[in-house]
Amino acid sequence: MKIVEQIKLPVVEEMELFEKKFSQSMSSKVALLNRITYYIVNRKGKQMRPMFVFLVAKMVSDGAVNERTYRGAAVIELIHTATLVHDDVVDDSNQRRGFFSVNALWKNKIAVLVGDFLLSKGLLLSIDAGDFDLLRIISVAVREMSEGELLQIEKARNLDITEEIYFEIIRQKTATLIAACSSLGACSVVPESDAVEKMRWFGELIGMAFQIKDDLFDYGDAAIGKPTGIDIKEQKMTLPLIYTLNHCTSKKKKWLINSIKNHNKNKKRVNEVIDFVKVSGGLEYATTIMHEYKDKALAILSEYPESDYKSSLVLMVNYVIDRKK
Ligand code: IPE
Ligand code: IPE
Ligand code: MG
Ligand code: MG
Repeated sequence: MKIVEQIKLPVVEEMELFEKKFSQSMSSKVALLNRITYYIVNRKGKQMRPMFVFLVAKMVSDGAVNERTYRGAAVIELIHTATLVHDDVVDDSNQRRGFFSVNALWKNKIAVLVGDFLLSKGLLLSIDAGDFDLLRIISVAVREMSEGELLQIEKARNLDITEEIYFEIIRQKTATLIAACSSLGACSVVPESDAVEKMRWFGELIGMAFQIKDDLFDYGDAAIGKPTGIDIKEQKMTLPLIYTLNHCTSKKKKWLINSIKNHNKNKKRVNEVIDFVKVSGGLEYATTIMHEYKDKALAILSEYPESDYKSSLVLMVNYVIDRKK
C-alpha cells in the first residue's frame, strides 16, 4: 500500500465525504467560473490539509468528528486552493499539479478573480454555519499568508534577507495554514481545551518543515508537478541560498548577489548559482533544519496515547519531509 493510502486509512470515510462537500461548495451560476472550478477539482492535490484536520480531530477526541470538522476541512482546502491560484499569478508560474495553472490557461485577470471567489466561498461556509471560533482561526491564517507573501516580495526586492526573516516568511505564508488545520481540527471537537493551542503549535512545526522541503524541491530536477529552479529567477532567497551567502568568501558573495540581482533570467548563470549552493552544503544545512522541526513535531505527538490516528499522524509528519512531490 502506498504511504498516502496508509496515512488516510483511519479517515478514509471522512475524506470521501469531504471531497463531495468540497466540490459542491465551489458551485456558481456563472458558467465560466464553473468550467474553471471543474478544472481545479479534477486536478486535486495531495489533500494533506484536510487529512490533518480529520486525523487531529480524531486523535484528540477518541475518534469523534462532527459537522464542524467537515466544514472546517472544506474551508481550509478552499482557502488553500485560492492561495495556490493567486500564488501562481504572483510567481508567474505556468504549471500546477502536473497541469497548466489557472493563469496559464485563463490569464491573470481571471485567476485573481477565481482566487477571490474560492476565498469568499470558504469564509461563507463558516459564516453560514455560525462556526465563528473556527472562522477566527482561518481568518488569522489568511491574513498571515498575505503578509508572508508580501514580506517575501519585499525581501526579494532588496535581497537583504536573513535566516530569521526567512523563517518568519515561511511561518506566515505556509506554516500558519497548517497550524490552522490542526488547531481547527481540535477546536471542532474539543473547543476550549488545551489541545487547541498544542495542536496549533504542532501544525506550525510541520508547516515549517513542509515549506523547507518545498524550497529544497526547487533545487532539484524531480518531476513534482510544478516548475523547479524558479525561485532564483524570482529573486526568492530560500534557506539553502541564505546559508551559502553566509558561509562563503566575500568575493563569492558579491558574485552571488550580482547573479541574483542582474542575471536572474540567464539560465546558465542561474544554474551556476544552483551548483554553487549545492557544493557549499546549502541543501544539507536546510535538510538538517527541516529534521529539527520534524523532531519537535513528533515530540508533541509522543505526549498522546497510542491510537491509529496518532500512528497516521506520525507517518504524515515523516511523509512531509520524505515526500516526492
Ligand atoms: C503547495 O502546497 C503550497 C505550499 C505551501 C508549498 P501542497 O504541496 O500541499 O499543494 P497540493 O495541494 O498538494 O497541490
Ligand atoms: C507557497 O508558496 C505558499 C503559498 C501558496 C501561500 P510557494 O510559491 O513557495 O509555493 P509553490 O512552490 O508555488 O507551491
Ligand atoms: Mg509559487
Ligand atoms: Mg510563492
